Amino acid sequence: MAEFTLPKNSKVVKGRTFAVENPKRPRKVMVYRWDPEKPTENPRLDTYIIDEETFGTMALDILLNIKEKLDPTLAFRRSCREGVCGSCSMNVNGTNTLACTKHVEDLKGDIKFYPLPHMPIMKDLVPDLTHAYAQYESIEPWIQADSALTPDKERLQSPEEREKLDGLWECVLCYCCTTSCPSYWWNGDRYLGPATLLQAYRWIADTRDESTGDRLDALEDPFKLYRCHTIMNCAKTCPKGLNPGKAIGAIKKDLVERVI
Ligand code: SF4
Ligand code: F3S
Ligand code: FES
Repeated sequence: MAEFTLPKNSKVVKGRTFAVENPKRPRKVMVYRWDPEKPTENPRLDTYIIDEETFGTMALDILLNIKEKLDPTLAFRRSCREGVCGSCSMNVNGTNTLACTKHVEDLKGDIKFYPLPHMPIMKDLVPDLTHAYAQYESIEPWIQADSALTPDKERLQSPEEREKLDGLWECVLCYCCTTSCPSYWWNGDRYLGPATLLQAYRWIADTRDESTGDRLDALEDPFKLYRCHTIMNCAKTCPKGLNPGKAIGAIKKDLVERVI
C-alpha cells in the first residue's frame, strides 16, 4: 500500500482538542488542519473526541458530524456521497480513499484524516488540483471523429468494442492513484500520473475515436508516460478497484506495436 507522505512543506505543530459532552462510545479522531489566513497556526493536527453512537457508517459521516457538532471551520470536499463524484478523496488512516465509501468498521484504532499526499493544500483537507486538472485537459478527453455521418446515424460500437472501455469509464477522477504514485511525487510537474494516463487510454481504446495516432504521438515522451516505473501503488489504492498501471502498460504496448 502507498506509504503516507505529508502534503508539501508540512511541519505539523500541536493542535487543539474538541470533545462532545458525555459520549457513550468515545472515539478519537485526528484531522490535519491548514488555514491560509492563520499562517502561525499551520499546519496542525486537531483532535476530536466524538460519540460513535451518533455518526453514520462511513468515514465521511465522521467529518460531517464534527463539522455539525464540534467545529464548523473544518473544510473538506464532498458532493454525491455515493462514490461517483470523486470529490471526497483524502487519506484516511494512511490510505488514499473516498471518504464516502470507506466503512468506519474497517478503520481500527484512532482515526486520522489527512489530505491527499504531496499536493498543495488550499485549506484543511482540500487539495489544490489545478495542475492535475490542467494535465487532464492536455490529453483532450473528448471524442474526436471527423468522418462524415448522416444526421440520423449514431457512431455505433459492437458489444465487444464497448467492452474495451470497461475498467476505464468507471474512473471518477478522484486522484487517489496519482497522489499515491512515488513517480508523480518526484516528477509531477511533467509526468502525467496514473489518473490522467488511464483517462488517456480510455480515448485510445474507444473504437469511435479517430485520433488514436495523434494521441499516442502526444504521449510518446520520456516524462509524460515513461516516468511510470510499474510501482503499482495506483492499483492498490484505487477506491473504484481500477488498475491504472495496466492501462499505462497498454499505452506502452500500443506504442511498440505501431512500429513493428
Ligand atoms: Fe480515482 Fe481510480 Fe480514477 Fe485513479 S483510477 S482517479 S484512483 S477512480
Ligand atoms: Fe505510479 Fe502506478 Fe506507474 S504507482 S509508477 S503509475 S504503475
Ligand atoms: Fe462523491 Fe464521495 S462525495 S465520491
